[in-house]
Amino acid sequence: MFAVAVIVCYFIGNISPAILIGKMKGIDIRKEGSGNAGTTNVLRVLGKKYAVATLIIDILKGVAAVAIGRYIGGQNLAMACGMAAFIGHIWPMAFGFRGGKGIATAFGVLVTLDPMLGFIEAAAALIFLIVSKRVSVGSIVAAALLPFAAWYFDHDYMIPTAVMAAIVIFKHRTNIKRLIKGQEPKINLGKR
Ligand code: G3P
Repeated sequence: MFAVAVIVCYFIGNISPAILIGKMKGIDIRKEGSGNAGTTNVLRVLGKKYAVATLIIDILKGVAAVAIGRYIGGQNLAMACGMAAFIGHIWPMAFGFRGGKGIATAFGVLVTLDPMLGFIEAAAALIFLIVSKRVSVGSIVAAALLPFAAWYFDHDYMIPTAVMAAIVIFKHRTNIKRLIKGQEPKINLGKR
């Protein structure tokens, strides 16, 4: 039963609003902009309202997975299910293992597991986004801070948050290269 819950949550993570909205609009979001199936790229390519929808759905996947795990098997299964949704979002079997970078789904997972961790992730992402005007900087810093926040607030989540941080940072490797070269684009909250 526990394994079934983890597998179901992996496939909940596979539900990619960025890819599905892109398909509805006649594009493959993974071939446009940064090529990432996530909120920032949907904002870049399709505009604000689709980006908000992508963000909300990606967060809810993490929330749902943790809630399912907690309901069926308690806190350890909640963590495993949350991690499964996070992995399913980043490497979705349903979409050729090419998904997003995980920051929104990680937020959904963490805010449901331990609201303080979710709050720290969101606050760090927002502050560094505002300061740098680059979403990737907010995402990378927020991810890197997570294991330290877990160390301070909730030791149970140190390993899962360290794994999440490593994966998020790995998925941002092209952003990091662009940042080093000074070529990472700033966020554009234009009219669309
Ligand atoms: O969470 C993704 C964001 O940090 C970067 O997205 O499309 O600029 O690679 P993107």
